[in-house]
Amino acid sequence: MKRLYYVSRFAKRLRPEELGAIDRISRKKNPEQQITGFLVCLGDTFFQVLEGPDDAVDHLFFEAIKHDPRHEEVLCLKSEVGIRERLFSDWHMRIFDLNAQGETLPFAFRQMLTALLDSHHVLAQYTQPSVFRMLEMGVNPTSLLPRQIEATVFFSDIIGFSLFSQWLTPGSLIDVVNAHIEMCTQVISQHGGEVNKITGDGVLAYFSRKQSDAAIAAGLDLLRETKRRRQLASATSPLHYLFGGVGLAHGSVYEGNIGFALKRDFTILGNTVNLASRLESYTRELEVRLIMNHDTVSCAKRQWSFISLGRHRLKGQSRALKLFSIQELETLNVRDIYCAIEARYAP
Ligand SMILES: Cc1cc2nc3c(=O)[nH]c(=O)nc-3n(C[C@H](O)[C@H](O)[C@H](O)COP(=O)(O)O)c2cc1C
Repeated sequence: MKRLYYVSRFAKRLRPEELGAIDRISRKKNPEQQITGFLVCLGDTFFQVLEGPDDAVDHLFFEAIKHDPRHEEVLCLKSEVGIRERLFSDWHMRIFDLNAQGETLPFAFRQMLTALLDSHHVLAQYTQPSVFRMLEMGVNPTSLLPRQIEATVFFSDIIGFSLFSQWLTPGSLIDVVNAHIEMCTQVISQHGGEVNKITGDGVLAYFSRKQSDAAIAAGLDLLRETKRRRQLASATSPLHYLFGGVGLAHGSVYEGNIGFALKRDFTILGNTVNLASRLESYTRELEVRLIMNHDTVSCAKRQWSFISLGRHRLKGQSRALKLFSIQELETLNVRDIYCAIEARYAP
């Protein structure tokens, strides 16, 4: 059996009859599925514990509850697998409405629970999705041993960022960075990649062994979307001068925990990661918007119009590497971009 704990926020103000409907469906279905647990409503937050056979809990949580429109930001806090005994065997879903009039729960305890739930929602936004997926599956990420995997590493950052950072106000600088990061994270997750880290003005992400095509598609979508944003922005907006480069490197990486109690990261490391970053920087040298290594090309299954950029010896790499891009991409005139940023913002 397993026991799963989650929190979520009401999608809109919850009417008493809606809670009644959840109560009725739970009382009907949970005994059939041998699910027990409890549900707490506090402020605009639900906190629920579900326990029962693995398949029944997974089905209820992942197939029904997670998609239920009555709530959003559904965040699994913990999943305990292989449990032998139930903690709430008499409750086929006991509902505690702590917002209801006459509730006797001490004020201090309610405050503490609210603070805990609020802070979890905030922390969730600073944590990469894979860590939450592990918690949902009942795996403690801190206990995982490092492993070697094959992946396509995706790296993108802003061209001319150091110029922007000299002359933009802090607010405008953050707006430019956020626009770039938002576009990156959207295209990466749309194509099934994992955003591992925000690297200041850029993003490090990776796609699994078989997703070289998805990584290429994400890179092209990013460049397309950035162009659309530039065209929409007025000439007075820094977004009008926003250009990003993309580096893709397929190869083996080490995935695991680095750091200790004070700061820990579940991340990827290795030469393929360094290479993706180097390829991204090299977009400026070769004046192309996207550069990938030979393994990214050879793992791709879709028909892309690859073009060879020749062999290049990159910093930190022991030998010259064959590099590639995609035919239809516009060239990148880095000097023009720098001049435009300077003309607009230099004092
Ligand atoms: C906060 C919350 C808790 C819920 N708890 C349960 C539950 O314990 N058991 C259950 O069957 N449905 C529960 N539901 C309702 C399910 O999401 C879903 O609507 C219901 O199981 C009917 O699914 P069906 O239409 O596939 O039959 C809950 C919904 C919400 C918003």
